[in-house]
Amino acid sequence: MNETGRTRLDQTPEWTALGKHREQVGGTGLRELFAADPERGRRLTLRVGDLHLDYSKHLVTDETLALLRQLAAATDVAGLRDAMFRGEKINTTEGRAVLHTALRAPRDAVIEVDGENVVPGVHAVLDRMAGFSGRIRSGEWTGHTGRPIRNVVNIGIGGSDLGPAMAYEALRAYTSRELTLRFVSNVDGADLHEAVRDLDPAETLFVVASKTFTTIETITNATSARQWLLDGLNAGQEAVARHFVALSTNAEKVTDFGIDPVNMFEFWDWVGGRYSYDSAIGLSLMIAIGPERFREMLDGFHLVDEHFRTAPPEANAPLLLGLLGIWYGAFFDAQSHAVLPYSHYLSRFTAYLQQLDMESNGKSVDRDGRPVHWQTGPVVWGTPGTNGQHAYYQLIHQGTKTIPADFIGFARPVPGLPPAQVAQHDLLMANFFAQTQALAFGKTADEVRAEGVPEELVPHKTFRGDHPTTTILADELTPSVLGQLIALYEHKVFVQGAVWNIDSFDQWGVELGKVLARRIEPVLTDGTGGEELDSSTAALTAAYRDLRGR
Ligand code: F6P
Repeated sequence: MNETGRTRLDQTPEWTALGKHREQVGGTGLRELFAADPERGRRLTLRVGDLHLDYSKHLVTDETLALLRQLAAATDVAGLRDAMFRGEKINTTEGRAVLHTALRAPRDAVIEVDGENVVPGVHAVLDRMAGFSGRIRSGEWTGHTGRPIRNVVNIGIGGSDLGPAMAYEALRAYTSRELTLRFVSNVDGADLHEAVRDLDPAETLFVVASKTFTTIETITNATSARQWLLDGLNAGQEAVARHFVALSTNAEKVTDFGIDPVNMFEFWDWVGGRYSYDSAIGLSLMIAIGPERFREMLDGFHLVDEHFRTAPPEANAPLLLGLLGIWYGAFFDAQSHAVLPYSHYLSRFTAYLQQLDMESNGKSVDRDGRPVHWQTGPVVWGTPGTNGQHAYYQLIHQGTKTIPADFIGFARPVPGLPPAQVAQHDLLMANFFAQTQALAFGKTADEVRAEGVPEELVPHKTFRGDHPTTTILADELTPSVLGQLIALYEHKVFVQGAVWNIDSFDQWGVELGKVLARRIEPVLTDGTGGEELDSSTAALTAAYRDLRGR
């Protein structure tokens, strides 16, 4: 029991019961589980909106699932979920509500923060974004020289980059192909240079995305971009208004930077950076796909929000996915989780999830500040199949680690693909289905021998199987389906944080590096400061200065 009266998670009867259960069923493999229940592949599935979710290839029995649900009940996941939806300040270390769900709530919803309904404000910003996007897309909004905007460069980092960049790639098929979109995040000047080197400043709009508008990478890149623009146009500060807009919660800093607050699209401190791409942070995406498609995406998010809020535990997909992750982390010592989309358009999907999951649940103290004694968030990784199959799948199949994996695929390719490329889709999806089958059931030594393989090679060609996977299959990658997928993962991460009793909505772990970088910069540029540096960093920074001839 801790100071707040909450029993330590790993000392609850529910956790202990899961540990015992793991010992009892530990040796039961997927071949056995499937043989014992011919209906397993149809039974252990869920339907959420357009997503068909198969969790039959997990190392679980009905009893495991029941015990996991009991753990969720004992840790009051539903209570915290309802508090989040009500707008309570569940981000305790920052004293903030966590209301990304309000960003996709219908116009007539009422969600209050400090007694004020936030939904009208959300829709007012969405309407302004729609108006602005429409003017850019139609060519009505012109740059300083009167030419229409043809290039949009989003400058942001973390949640102010990964979401729109991921969604732009995901929804390429729905984007206006006349517009060029680029995303600049890295403070490495090469990022901005490569993004703008072939663009005409007269036709370029910079969207500066930063919740705080103090993030050094973003402000540095935005300052460079402003100089590039003014040099290119041979114009003064007055040109900025037609070429720069800001997405932020901080009107004061936006004004200080020189962007007219009229050109600022706001959001609120109850939207976490990694939960923000369906807020004003999605402006560049909205310009690319248009307001209609953006709203379809929001509807997809909302559909899964409602599912998470109302579906019973046995049929609640985010709850189930969250609990399965906890099962492997705690009782199989799984350290990582692979997300493997079988869609070229989801090339940034896992990178986006890395921030969502790892910045949320990469914590080692609980909500009361006490060390946790259980695994928290996994390392999330992965790239689109089938590329991964020819790179790191070997380790998943035959390595020594337990790596639960999500396979995401679509029945149909996106609209607009030429027939020859549409024809490749069955092969892509054959790989998708084959991999989860191979991972689950492997190949026994006897099966290998039966193929006439020489005895000395049998161990090398044997696949132990029992690698757990979730399969998520949807008809097509539409804006709505993308929203559904992201909301599914957002709430999965929420469930895990709730059970682990950590604050999933702060990110103090990124602060120290920021402070130290500010201290080290003058050491590099003019050799001042640095007296307090450790001997390794002092020698390295000295070597850097030498190499730079300083
Ligand atoms: O990496 C820390 C972080 O604060 C993220 O949480 C956030 O998404 C990112 O920096 C960017 O912050 P901002 O939108 O304020 O520039």
